[in-house]
Amino acid sequence: MVARRARGRELAVVHGGNKTTITLVCKPMNPSSPQAREMADESMVRNLAAQAEAIWPQERPIFERNSRPPPKHVLDVGCGTGEITKRLAELFPEATLTGIDLEEPHLEKARQKLPEATFRRADALALPFEDESFDLAVCRHLTQAVPDAKKVLAEMQRVLKPNGRMHVISEDYGMLWCHPTELDSDGFWQRIPHLFGKAIGCDLYVGRKTYTYLHDLGMKDIAVDYVVVDTLRVARETFARIWEAWRDGYTDSIVEYTRTPRQEVEQRWREMIDCVRDPRGYALWQVPVWTAVK
Ligand SMILES: C[S@@+](CC[C@H](N)C(=O)[O-])C[C@H]1O[C@@H](n2cnc3c(N)ncnc32)[C@H](O)[C@@H]1O
Repeated sequence: MVARRARGRELAVVHGGNKTTITLVCKPMNPSSPQAREMADESMVRNLAAQAEAIWPQERPIFERNSRPPPKHVLDVGCGTGEITKRLAELFPEATLTGIDLEEPHLEKARQKLPEATFRRADALALPFEDESFDLAVCRHLTQAVPDAKKVLAEMQRVLKPNGRMHVISEDYGMLWCHPTELDSDGFWQRIPHLFGKAIGCDLYVGRKTYTYLHDLGMKDIAVDYVVVDTLRVARETFARIWEAWRDGYTDSIVEYTRTPRQEVEQRWREMIDCVRDPRGYALWQVPVWTAVK
């Protein structure tokens, strides 16, 4: 029986007769996916469904605006459970869709949603495709979860055809707030992701840096749209499901890696989730959507 999991470590507790053995099993962290534990958690499956529900209505017009002519070959890098691959297949019915991810259970869910697409296990940091293979390369909510966001963008650029387009949701945890909260939500978002990101080797504020990365790669027509996930545009219940999934998936890691007392972390989530549901409350998550042409 596994009693407790920590990043790269498991405490295996085995009861045999009147003897209990506790063993610390060290497993190497996946260097390409420092948040693999959170990514694989069931809370992430809920989160991706709620995020797609919240974001797609504002994101779809960005794809429509940028797709003349429509892409023939589309790649979804870090496709997760295929929430958006499926929506892209509906938007571009003539296109072939390919999704890659490191989590096989997510890929299996994606295959069930969209049997006609190709989903394969692969690393965004070393895409297993020939140069100049795709017209559109999409990457949503991944750059903040890898040790080298620039390398992912460079790989996407490599596999794009000339004049092919990138579409990248690059998260930035400095772009969230809510009011009213007793502890003030800035005390969470402007502090804790810095500590957590540093500890695990991810940049949780990469959203604001993505322009420079695309510029340095020599991409053209760089643009950003901000999807505004707030309590005026998105149903409070949908928004609350995102926040609850973050709470369920990240609390243990935040406590472990930032040394913030569990009580404080739990209080902060509780206040922010209450604020999202409070008819007097206003909560905002600005989601940068970067697009650029090769
Ligand atoms: C937050 S999810 C986003 C999923 C999907 N793009 C969406 O928007 O619904 C990030 C995904 O990236 C995957 N991932 C993380 N690091 C990866 C890597 N180095 N290569 C491929 N996939 C990776 C995770 O397994 C997870 O499914």
